[in-house]
Amino acid sequence: MKKLNLLGFFLLSCFIASAQESTIKSSVRNVETKVDSVLALMTLEEKVGQLVQYNGSWDLTGPASEMNSKEKEENLKNGKVGAMLNVLSVEATAEAQRLVMENSRLKIPLMFGYDVIHGYTTIFPVPLAETASWDLEAMRKSAEIAALESAANGVNWTFSPMIDVSRDARWGRIMEGSGEDTYLTAKVAVAKVEGYQGNDLANSRSIAATAKHFAGYGFGEAGRDYNTVHIGENELHNTILPPFKAAAEAGVATFMNAFNDIDGTPATGHKILQRDILKRDWDWDGFVVSDWGSIPEMIPHGFAKDKMQAAEIALNAGSDMDMEGGAYESSLVELVENEKVSLDYIDDAVKRVLRVKFKLGLFDDPYLYANPALLEQISFEDHKELARDVAKKSIVLLKNEGDLLPLKDEVKNIAVIGPLADDKDTPIGNWRAQGEANSAVSLLEGLKNNAGKNVNITYAKGADLGVGERSFLMPLEINKTDKSGFEEAINTASKADMVIMALGEDAFQTGEGRSQVNIGLAGVQQELLEEIYKVNQNIVLVLINGRPLEITWASENIPAIVEAWQLGSESGNAIADVLLGNYNPSGKLPVSFPRAVGQEPLYYNQKSTGRPSNPEHVTYSGYTDEKKDALYPFGFGLSYTNFEYSDLQLSSEEMNPDGNSQASITLKNTGDVEGKEIVQLYLRDLVASTTRPVIELKGFEAVNLAPGASKTVTFEINEEMLQFYTANRKWESEAGEFEVFIGGNSRDLQKVKFSLKK
Ligand code: NOJ
Repeated sequence: MKKLNLLGFFLLSCFIASAQESTIKSSVRNVETKVDSVLALMTLEEKVGQLVQYNGSWDLTGPASEMNSKEKEENLKNGKVGAMLNVLSVEATAEAQRLVMENSRLKIPLMFGYDVIHGYTTIFPVPLAETASWDLEAMRKSAEIAALESAANGVNWTFSPMIDVSRDARWGRIMEGSGEDTYLTAKVAVAKVEGYQGNDLANSRSIAATAKHFAGYGFGEAGRDYNTVHIGENELHNTILPPFKAAAEAGVATFMNAFNDIDGTPATGHKILQRDILKRDWDWDGFVVSDWGSIPEMIPHGFAKDKMQAAEIALNAGSDMDMEGGAYESSLVELVENEKVSLDYIDDAVKRVLRVKFKLGLFDDPYLYANPALLEQISFEDHKELARDVAKKSIVLLKNEGDLLPLKDEVKNIAVIGPLADDKDTPIGNWRAQGEANSAVSLLEGLKNNAGKNVNITYAKGADLGVGERSFLMPLEINKTDKSGFEEAINTASKADMVIMALGEDAFQTGEGRSQVNIGLAGVQQELLEEIYKVNQNIVLVLINGRPLEITWASENIPAIVEAWQLGSESGNAIADVLLGNYNPSGKLPVSFPRAVGQEPLYYNQKSTGRPSNPEHVTYSGYTDEKKDALYPFGFGLSYTNFEYSDLQLSSEEMNPDGNSQASITLKNTGDVEGKEIVQLYLRDLVASTTRPVIELKGFEAVNLAPGASKTVTFEINEEMLQFYTANRKWESEAGEFEVFIGGNSRDLQKVKFSLKK
């Protein structure tokens, strides 16, 4: 035994000594051998230690354990911890790493995780907003920058991307994902993984990514966070799993499971999801971290009677690492000794963790991500430029009656009004990592920075949106009574040629635990809008928000509406780019905007039902007091120019399984300015072994056109695109008729038909 240990120490020190990055790259090739040789040295206690993650107490993102920091420190020294989260800065991470490297027997380096969701210091648009750009390269790039800024601060693992498809605007975390569509979310998932992880995880500028939350978390009943999920196998496979599969195939280093239960089984204890689908069927070799405390949360779920049983269920189900739950550290050794958990399962989990650590280069240099020089090399100005670029691309023009926008030269007096108009904090959004409070360019500042000197800009807040303190964990109190600023705002508006009103949501109205039953303009905002409208109808409504809002009154009365989300550090400049016409808006909604909150969950790719259309009487699938479709549908977004679609054609109306068909359409810019259009391809399987959505996104292409120019846009349709999870419980296509739709949003589409022969 002693001999073996000595040999092991020799091997380990060899790994640590080879600190050059070129060596690191070559070491990745031999990861498996190295993982095995480290595993062979480990005691059961040390193995369990690798499966434990502690919060660093610096930045709480959940209810922390009762363990004090002295105990945590001792456990770090004794090799009882494999990873930490929320330990920030090069100094702090180096200090924690040193505790392990200088004291523990095997000196297995720690990983440091953090919620880097839309930037670390430089803040990009919240993920829902960024998805509205449909610009995968821009999204890859923003992840690359977030990775660099994280790595330069000691963080080598982000809990991102969140790729939970969500169709419910009531759910506060809808801001954190890519919206309601499976295909688009899968594309973003891959772009994000590539951005965070780069070509080589061991490069000190890239960090490990996490595909979360596995799975179904976006389908919480009634939009309530952490709530029960009722989805069947069909929905799970067709709607929820594809983005996760895409992330796994893109080589995402880790997965995070979820708080919710699915059809009676908590995701954390879900063996079919984690062990069978993810690890066996998809052959994925990374590790699964639990969500914060989700292992012991199986006790209140009524799925485990105590921590011991929770640990047994979770490990056996394939949850590899316990985030701040305290269940693995207290129970796993005993569970193995009592043969409730097999050593094989423990070994598999430990190997997964070690594998990621090797790939990250940590065995070669545990302090690879503790390099203060890297921070010095960063040009935050360049990062801001990129943040502005993706922010302007994320803006969606919802309405522009009478071409009110872009602002014309005749407009000399602009009144900027609203609680969010000069708010430098809300655009930073929730899940802001180390984005500094009040560091965004406000809309007012953006306009002043970018409008010409001849424009006179006046400002009146009108009202506060929130009152009191705002923080990540506390509910936000909305101002529902104080209208003392109305009078000044009304006066200001009445003297202006045009009013720009900034209304929407506070940064802390969306995010974790921030579900709402009302999704209109909160507090006194709607009233303020209507009062201003009485004195000046020339209003551009700029929405600053993290979820789809109910804005039916505004859509009927206000001439111009700009969806500007929470756009991050450069928000105001990006909005000004669009309002002033320096950028022609090109964003398209990644999520449907409802007419009324009662329509939620609302999504374009619904099933037909047996009674789909509106007959003379009420017995059809709709509402008696409201239309059933969206106010603004998925894929919708206007431009300052107009695009005309014509001549949709298919190269062949019959397709063989190994063949393909080209669908082409002519797109023409019929307006006066250059513009970018996101051309969207949808398919429908008309009759199948399970019911299928009325349409499903299957492709898109961004096309830039000069005024008067046209282009033929061609999409290839192949058999793989027709596959779905069939009644045979596998992914396959079925012979029969299909419809092909192409257009500029999910509602205005041209259609042709073809059939798949088998
Ligand atoms: C709970 C959230 O659900 C998860 O997304 C996050 O990564 C962890 N807390 C860590 O903060």
